[in-house]
Amino acid sequence: MSTDVTTMEKRVTAGQTDADRLLRIEDLGVTVQKQAGPLSLVRDASFEVREGEIVCLVGESGSGKSVTARTIMGLTQLDDAMDVTGRIELAGEELTDLSAERVRRLRGRELTMVFQEPLSSLDPVYSIEFQLREALRRRERLTRRAEHERLVEALAEVGVHDGPRVLGSYPHQLSGGMCQRVMIAMALLARPRLLIADEPTTALDVTVQAQILNLIDRLRREEGMAVLLVTHDLGVAADLADRVVVMYAGQVVEDAAPKDIFARPSHPYTAGLLASIPPLTGERPTRLPAIRGSVPDPSALPTGCAFHPRCAFATERCANEAPPARDVGGSRVACWNPMTTKGAA
Ligand SMILES: Nc1ncnc2c1ncn2[C@@H]1O[C@H](COP(=O)(O)OP(=O)(O)O)[C@@H](O)[C@H]1O
Ligand SMILES: [Mg+2]
Repeated sequence: MSTDVTTMEKRVTAGQTDADRLLRIEDLGVTVQKQAGPLSLVRDASFEVREGEIVCLVGESGSGKSVTARTIMGLTQLDDAMDVTGRIELAGEELTDLSAERVRRLRGRELTMVFQEPLSSLDPVYSIEFQLREALRRRERLTRRAEHERLVEALAEVGVHDGPRVLGSYPHQLSGGMCQRVMIAMALLARPRLLIADEPTTALDVTVQAQILNLIDRLRREEGMAVLLVTHDLGVAADLADRVVVMYAGQVVEDAAPKDIFARPSHPYTAGLLASIPPLTGERPTRLPAIRGSVPDPSALPTGCAFHPRCAFATERCANEAPPARDVGGSRVACWNPMTTKGAA
């Protein structure tokens, strides 16, 4: 996709200070208790999102992207009773120690999330108009009539042109794609400081996808909204991201600027993901070259580097010792043999 997402004026990252840091994740660990014992879903994950920045979280299905996103929203702790360790700081405030009440208040105002499954996040008993109006009222008070017009406008921005009909509907009367657009409109009406969007456009056609990504980018540029965008589409990351965080088997394996990730990936996993991007033009192959094997199940994590069984460059050390994250050029990479230094050592 991404062919008609307008070219983004990439923000100059030089000269930023700690004050620009909006979200800071440090050594995040997420564990779920199962009958057979604890399962580690996320380990030692660290990354940050600065004010007005779009950070893309990428990785194959099962890498831990959604668990990470939901944990930042306080959902895995409060709703799924998972154990969370490490730090999650939003604008200097530590979220992991906050009361459930405070976290609920932050969600919706400072932090808004668009989920992968839209139906689970719309309330079946309220009309779309009611639910969108609630989101709008967190931000501005308007007359009923002006509210209605503002909602029709917000729906048009996400490609819904029969706004009045949709506003009068209940979630079960709408298609999955339509619910997804409603969710995105709702999240954007709240104008959060940080939007967390988990594969927000996967269910939508390419034109609507591009329109929504453009809108997200515009809000970032015009209102300084920061975005953590979970996507498996590296084309989207190439167009929009200020920073790309690559996850594999619950860990951050690479964290770099898109120009570095795309021109010279450091982690063999990142290189493998890049090799499986479909071409933007011409005929699409029915099967893309993929990295052999699949993401390990959390109940059967390999020893050493979790990627070693699938890695063409794995050595004995990789099979036995987990590589720590290290700075390689401007990137952070967790690999004993990062590709950018191959031959140098
Ligand atoms: N509630 C849960 N209980 C057990 N395992 C889970 C739970 N939620 C997610 N997982 C597992 O955690 C891993 C990461 O899941 P997820 O974050 O959804 O991956 P992604 O979003 O990158 O596709 C997967 O193996 C998934 O099966
Ligand atoms: Mg997911």
